[in-house]
Amino acid sequence: MKKTVIFIICLLWVGVNFTLVGWNLSHAETGFASNVDPETGDIHVPKNYRRWSTLGTWAHANTEGKPGSKEYHIVYTQPETIVYYKKHRQFPDGAVLVKELIHTKTMPMTTGPAVSHATDIKGWFVLVRDTQGRFQDSPLWGDGWGWSFFEAGDRFKTSSTDYQKDCIACHLPARDLAPEHAVEADKWTYTLGYPVLQKK
Ligand code: HEC
Repeated sequence: MKKTVIFIICLLWVGVNFTLVGWNLSHAETGFASNVDPETGDIHVPKNYRRWSTLGTWAHANTEGKPGSKEYHIVYTQPETIVYYKKHRQFPDGAVLVKELIHTKTMPMTTGPAVSHATDIKGWFVLVRDTQGRFQDSPLWGDGWGWSFFEAGDRFKTSSTDYQKDCIACHLPARDLAPEHAVEADKWTYTLGYPVLQKK
């Protein structure tokens, strides 16, 4: 009886180890962005993106004569993506760009009469660079990127269904604004707003 129990414990131990090795391998093998399901290509908003580097912020002004900003779009990426971009002048495979839409409040402060600050998250746009043409069957992948939008409150379930309908038209003007050195896929992004990518 005692031997059987020990045997079962040993079997379980081996099983757990195999599972762990398998998990590590599948991650090492895909070597791709960890916020992408390697089977389906489903994207989610990376959990710790706020610990990444900020690429830049777009401030959307209040209209109708109100002072300050009504919304910020803060764009984050992995710190190593910035290092890579500065060296090779293009985004690396697996680069993740997270655009956080965030509400604001504007109030007088000791620095000025109308100072805006960020408040609650409204949603996220996520782009994942794909140099290999993965997920050919997914309508959320193409033109060198994976594309998805998420409403605040659900980092895992995108409301996007087809990037060609949901995203492309609005990113078309970026192509004319792109720097000369940009590779085809990178011309879909608004890099003019990210001085941190410039060499100096
Ligand atoms: C209404 C137009 C519009 C739509 C629709 C749109 N974008 Fe954008 N996107 C922009 C503009 C303009 C910027 C930069 C300025 C800003 O955010 O105000 C931008 C910036 C971004 C950025 C930051 C990186 C960059 O390109 O500068 C990401 C990430 C992004 N968009 C992803 C997406 C995805 C994914 C979709 C589709 C699900 C999408 N966008 C749909 C207009 C749009």
